[in-house]
Order: sequence, then C-alpha cells, then structure tokens
Amino acid sequence: MPTPKAHVASLAPYQLADLALAPGIQPVMLAQNESLRDPSPQVATAISAAQHDGRLYADPKCSELAMVLRQIYDLSGNAVLLGAGSMELIGVLLRAYVGPGDEVLSSQFGYAYFALATAITGARYIQACESDYTLDVDAMLAKVTDHTKVVVAVNPGNPTGTAIANSEIRRLRMALPEDVLLVIDEAYGEFTDAWQKPVFDLVEAGNCVVLRTLSKAYGLASMRVGWGFFPETIAQQMLKLLNPNRLSSISQHAAMAALQDQEYMRATVTQTLQIAQQFRQAMQALGFYVPQSHGNFVLLKLASATQAQNIEKGLRKQGFLVRPMRNDLAECLRITIGEPQVMRQLTEVITALCQQN
Ligand SMILES: Cc1ncc(COP(=O)(O)O)c(C=O)c1O
Repeated sequence: MPTPKAHVASLAPYQLADLALAPGIQPVMLAQNESLRDPSPQVATAISAAQHDGRLYADPKCSELAMVLRQIYDLSGNAVLLGAGSMELIGVLLRAYVGPGDEVLSSQFGYAYFALATAITGARYIQACESDYTLDVDAMLAKVTDHTKVVVAVNPGNPTGTAIANSEIRRLRMALPEDVLLVIDEAYGEFTDAWQKPVFDLVEAGNCVVLRTLSKAYGLASMRVGWGFFPETIAQQMLKLLNPNRLSSISQHAAMAALQDQEYMRATVTQTLQIAQQFRQAMQALGFYVPQSHGNFVLLKLASATQAQNIEKGLRKQGFLVRPMRNDLAECLRITIGEPQVMRQLTEVITALCQQN
C-alpha cells in the first residue's frame, strides 16, 4: 500500500459548509458568503462571447484582466497575480515562504483556511487574541517570535465581519521585523473601500502582499477569480509553484466584465450593508450579540453552543443553510446576508426557534 507523507496523513480536509438537505427541501444559501445577487448582467454577455474559446488554452498571464485590475484599483508597479480563487494564492504563498520550524501568526478568529494552508507546509500556526471579536494589533505584535515568517491580517475578518482602520494595518507593518512577510487578506475589502483608503501602497516595500477576490462583492464565487498585489520578487517565486493554466478564458472574461461594471458592484455593496444592519438590529432586538459587520455576513452569538446547534438544525430543516462555528465560537452562527425577503423570513424562523430553544 503506498503511504502518504506523515504530515499529510495527519491533516483533515478543509471543511466547507455542509449543504446537505432532506429530499425536496429548497436550499437558501447563507453559509458561504456568496453575493446576495447575480453578477452584473454584463457578465452573462461576456461568458457567452467567451464560450467559443474552449478549444484553446487561456492566457496564462491573464494579462488583460490584470490590466483591468490595475486601472480599477489604481495600481502601478509590482505584480498583479491571479489565482483560482484567493484560496489558491494563500496556499501557494505559504508553500513558497514557510516550512517546518517556522511560524505563521494570525488572529484568534482569523480565516480558517490559513490554518490548513500552514499545516500543509509543516509550519506552526499561532493565533493572537482578539478584542471584542476584532483583530488586535498589539496582541499580534506580542506573539511575534524569531520563528515568525508570515503574519496574516484578515480585514474585514471572517467569520467576525469586524474591521480595523487601515492606519492600524500600517502600524502593524511598521512594527514588524522587515523580513517578516505581512499578508493582508481583503476578501471583503470592497465593503470598506467607501470609508477607507486601501493599503496597496504597502506592497512597494517588498514585504507585504494584499489579497482580494471577485467571489464576494462581485458575485463571481463559482468563477474562482482571486487576485493579489505582490512585490515582483514574491510573484517570481509564486509563479514557480502556481499551475500556469489556472484560470479559464470564461473566468477571465467574466471577471473583466464584472470589474468594468463598478456601479453595479457598489450598488450590491450598499444594499448588502443596509440589509446586514437591519438584520443585526433584528437579532439585537431578540437579545443577541452581533459584532458590527463590514462584510456580506454577520456573526450571531447565541446564548450557548447548544442553542446555536439547535437553531442551525432547525433552520436547515426549513432549507436555510447557515454556517455553524466551532471551538471558541461554538455559541455562534455565521449568516450570509441574503435578499430582504429572505432575511425577513429568516428573522421570523429564528424568532420562532428561539422560543422553542
Ligand atoms: C477572508 C477570506 N479570504 C479568502 C477567501 C477565499 O475566497 P476565494 O477563494 O473564493 O477567492 C474567503 C472566502 O470565503 C474569505 O472569507
């Protein structure tokens, strides 16, 4: 029997949302932070135009798409790299920069994929406490050791939804040793761009990477288009490990169409944040704590882990798929923001379930 490497054998696969429902129940997808509406109508047009490219390999450099990203996000110099979702870029970045004996430092409720991506490399994953479900720069700095190779700041955070000011991210970068790589994961960055200037300029110093995705605000989760702004030296290492043919032509064209309709994306963001605020208030009225969210989801803190499990099960029976949490957040559910009518129904169902649980 062939044997895998010992550290691979000891890993558990990344746990995505459990989407299983009883036969005949229609799913209401609120478990994976997908957009509440379809992508821009321009995307469908672009996809049907690109369908004839199927015979050919797509542009491995995604040159046109990278150029559109540079225009939209006002990026100059350095490198724009595309990945099959930002998950792919996270995995490859850690494989290129850390290994056994190294530490990757993130925060208490940091995006869970960083833990697995770190374990795959054989490095140790360290988590600094958060304050009120929010990344705490001083707590992170206190955990830096001689072994720290990479520091991860997910802003806004998933699953908390909380955000810190970009001045705090800058303070983190300034206080870290120069040879420590800072990875700023802004998968939900479009939801805060209206009130804070992005941090892409930090990439210039050569020790910082900013990651984004089209899976959230642009509504393209199934197209798998993640991207990052990388120092050229880091991009050169990444290109050795990345699959050169990772993005289909359809994905590249869909992404360009979505990016070129900024008005549509901004309307999605505004609508989502408004609904999130209303839903948060409805949950607060039921007596629950919900940290202020700056993404397309909220973290609902219930009275106990048992109540969270019961409510999650009760919702699932009626087709509402939300995300149960584990460990430190076992009394919480992460709920993606859906359309107003969906959130009204959800509020009614949660209210009824709370009376029974
Ligand atoms: C914080 C964060 N980073 C990265 C990702 C990965 O996104 P994708 O691989 O779809 O680009 C997600 C997805 O949920 C996320 O929440």
